[in-house]
Amino acid sequence: MSQLADLRFLIVTGKGGVGKTTVCAAEAVAIAAKGKRVLVAMCNAKERLSMMLGSDIVGNAISPVAPNIWGINLDPEQAIEEYGIMTLKSRYLYKLLFDNKYVRTFLRAVPGMHEWAMLGKAWWHTTEKNSDGSWKYDVVILDAPATGHGLDMLRVPKVILDVVPPGILRRDAERAIELFRDPKNCAVILVTLPEEMPTSETIELAAALTDELKLPIGRIVVNGVLPPLFSKEERRVLDEQGDILCTSSGDAALLAGRARAIRERVQAESLYRLSHELPVKPSFLPLLFSEAACPAAIRELARRLN
Ligand SMILES: Nc1ncnc2c1ncn2[C@@H]1O[C@H](COP(=O)(O)OP(=O)(O)OP(=O)(O)O)[C@@H](O)[C@H]1O
Ligand SMILES: [Mg+2]
Repeated sequence: MSQLADLRFLIVTGKGGVGKTTVCAAEAVAIAAKGKRVLVAMCNAKERLSMMLGSDIVGNAISPVAPNIWGINLDPEQAIEEYGIMTLKSRYLYKLLFDNKYVRTFLRAVPGMHEWAMLGKAWWHTTEKNSDGSWKYDVVILDAPATGHGLDMLRVPKVILDVVPPGILRRDAERAIELFRDPKNCAVILVTLPEEMPTSETIELAAALTDELKLPIGRIVVNGVLPPLFSKEERRVLDEQGDILCTSSGDAALLAGRARAIRERVQAESLYRLSHELPVKPSFLPLLFSEAACPAAIRELARRLN
């Protein structure tokens, strides 16, 4: 597998709330520091990238967010319109066709149209060139939707190949799939937490991505890792404390210790599974005890990803 910074398209996905956008921001900072121009594309998200990188709010037009980093919050309706205008090569024709309410209703009903509008637009930005022939963005990072929706989105190009007759849409879907499946150009970054459910979901998601979609997995990021305070034996002793009636500060300390020991046990079990049941050795990001959605924290996480 090539270095992530040498690829053209990175797809970041994982369960809701595990730190996908945080990882997008940290990867963008790490890659931009190598002199690459990076575009982070979010999927109609409640936008938080600007807070993480210290910029103005990122809207549905590309805007700069940090040195060598740009952002966009993809709006599916607008992306469909742009795509329509681009493929019909005329705003007039587009309006003629799309202002027709039957056509609109039909388009909304096409399965995956919204997903393709966002995924296809993000992909399309990898094809943009400057006037000197260089890529406008060296790397596009897609902050993809959470697990189930992310998978649905990544399935869409294949659905287009299966059901759409030859034409521009099909040709673009073909080119996008070719890029997505090429480990020299694309990688999926899976983000997870060292907990039971996210671990099981990540292992299932990795299998679906590789077996069904044939997408290369470039990195597994285990986010929010706690520094262990207890040895295995200490964890066992604390874990076996049974019900503790909290009547003194000593009891409160014991309760807190037991809760932490249980969390550390679950983390150790999850890390073992993530290290043994996935095709790529995981990278780890620590749980930060200060605000993580700010540039200083993102820089620290970026350093750890390198
Ligand atoms: N390593 C960390 N340490 C502490 N807090 C973190 C860490 N990583 C992420 N967070 C915080 O956890 C919250 C969720 O992170 P983030 O927004 O990146 O998740 P997400 O997977 O993108 O969520 P969503 O599914 O809603 O898009 C944020 O407040 C973020 O600052
Ligand atoms: Mg997010």
